[in-house]
Formats: sequence, structure tokens, C-alpha cells
Amino acid sequence: MKCRRCGQEAEVEIRSHHTAFCRECFFVYFKRQVQRAIKDWQMLRKQERILVAVSGGKDSLTLWDVLLDLGYDATGLFVDLKIDGFSEKAKEKIEAFAQSRKAKLIIVDLEKEGIPIPKVMKHTGKEPCSVCGQVKRYYFNHIAYTQRFHVLATGHNLDDETSRLLANLLRWQMFYLVDQGPVLPPANRLVKKVKPLYRLTEYEIAAYAFLKGIDYFAERCPFSQGATFLKYKHYMNLLEYDFPGTKLDFYQGFLKKMKPFLTPLQKEEAPIAHLCPQCGYPTLAPVCGICRLKEEIKKAGI
Ligand code: AMP
Ligand code: FES
Ligand code: ZN
Repeated sequence: MKCRRCGQEAEVEIRSHHTAFCRECFFVYFKRQVQRAIKDWQMLRKQERILVAVSGGKDSLTLWDVLLDLGYDATGLFVDLKIDGFSEKAKEKIEAFAQSRKAKLIIVDLEKEGIPIPKVMKHTGKEPCSVCGQVKRYYFNHIAYTQRFHVLATGHNLDDETSRLLANLLRWQMFYLVDQGPVLPPANRLVKKVKPLYRLTEYEIAAYAFLKGIDYFAERCPFSQGATFLKYKHYMNLLEYDFPGTKLDFYQGFLKKMKPFLTPLQKEEAPIAHLCPQCGYPTLAPVCGICRLKEEIKKAGI
């Protein structure tokens, strides 16, 4: 198979676009997809300070790599969850990457914060990924807000977005649907959030990371075994295999044809949040969930 841009031997086939590229042309294609996402949704500007949440996996390290290549002022943020045999290895990869690119890196140590994830799991007994996600989102915003970053960027890709969309649509979860999209605007001490990789699949990102020689952490979190979102990803992959291009059409269709009608719904029905008296985070409860969690774990002496 030949590269569509230059006619040389192709290295990456993109079935959804009925095309294939050699290594260099694939890099051009990939960066253009990111630039298009940024431009279409006015995600980032060159003079802004951007905080990139990096887990050490292929998506977030690739995002950081591309943003640095495109000339953005991008600082990494790693939330060290303190999961045995997992977090330490991820941290090593991120530190090595930051050093190799001479990029700034911020690390939040959840042990020092009093809520390492294994202790949180023991205490709450809730679905691990949802509690962990809540803790991570809190610190993404906390660091971005207190250290005056303009935007927070995450490595969510087209597979993440479409599997979540499918799950939300199947249950008509309107409030979750309202929040879905490549950009979440700033509000009440919540920093603007963007997903510049939303047009790219996991396969394309893995190919980019591999061909670019990005040394990422490939292991899956031990707590995510059997998580339901993995099933939805699998169903989306089955559809994509039979009908190439389904993921992008599905997501773009949602953004163009459904999302504009959801925003007014949010305005009318969203409850008003106040600020947590202990940390200032917007919450509906008297004290925010994270401050409560810290107190409970301290009291329980786990
Ligand atoms: P996940 O929820 O694990 O699929 O991750 C989605 C995105 O959240 C990643 O692409 C990263 O941008 C970010 N992320 C996940 N885990 C961490 C972490 N421990 N520290 C910083 N960012 C993270
Ligand atoms: Fe949070 Fe696995 S990364 S539970
Ligand atoms: Zn709080």
C-alpha cells in the first residue's frame, strides 16, 4: 500500500479515512487532526499557560509531545495515586519524558494529601474508577486554578468519547450528555477543560507514540479489571471494524446535531453550586466530597 501524500511505501493504514501514510506523512496527518480540534473548538492559544494531565500512558504523553512540538507552553501534571507496583512505574516514565523534552512537571502525591487511592478504595467500597476519577478531577482543577493555568488538557481520545457517549445515550443520561464534548467552558472556580485528541482513535495514537519513540507506560490500572467502560469500547470497536468511520461520524453527529439542544437544558435545570468552606471547590453539599473523604479517612485511621 502506498502513502496517500507522497506515494512512498505506507506504514500506517487509516481505515476510517480509507487511506494510508508513510511515517512522516502520518505525523503531518496526526498533527493536523490535533490542530483542527484546537481551531474548531477554540481550545488553546499560544500565549496561554496550559496544564496537561499526564498519566504516563500513550494518550497523555502523546498529547504533551504534540503540544510541545506545536509550540504551546505546556506543563505536565501527574497525580500520584500511590497504587503499589503501578504508580511508581508510571511516574518514572513521565519524569524521563519531561527531562528529555525539558518540560515542566508538577506532581501531586496523594499519600501526602491523606487520600492514597488504595486507602480510598478500602474506605468507600464504591466502584474504583468512579471514586478515583473524582479525586483526579478535583486535583486537576485545584492545581490549574491555584497555579493560574488558563486551560487544563487531558488525553481523552475518540474511543474514550464515543464509548462514553454510547453508554450515556443508552440510558438517556441527560446531565452527563450535557457535559460531553471536547471543551468544558470555565465556570465558578472551575478551569476550562479541553480534549485536543478527540478526533483520533486509540489505534492512531498508539501508532504515533510507537513511531515517534515515546516511551510510555503500557500497563492498565489493576483496579480497572472488568470496568464497564471497557465493554463499551469493545462494542464501539466491533462497529468500527464492520463500518469504518463510525466512531468519528457518531461523535461529530452528536456534537453538531444534538449538543446545541442540550446546553439550554443545562441552564434551566442545573442546580446552583456553592463553594466548599474548606477548600473553595464548587459543591452542592455543605462540604465538598474530597474534603469529606479526607476527614473520613483520617477519622477511620486506615
Ligand atoms: P483515564 O480516565 O484513565 O482514561 O484518563 C483520561 C485522561 O486523564 C488521561 O489521558 C490523562 O490526561 C488524565 N489522567 C489519568 N490519570 C492521570 C493521573 N494519574 N495523573 C494525571 N493525569 C491523569
Ligand atoms: Fe484510578 Fe485505576 S486509575 S482506579
Ligand atoms: Zn473541599
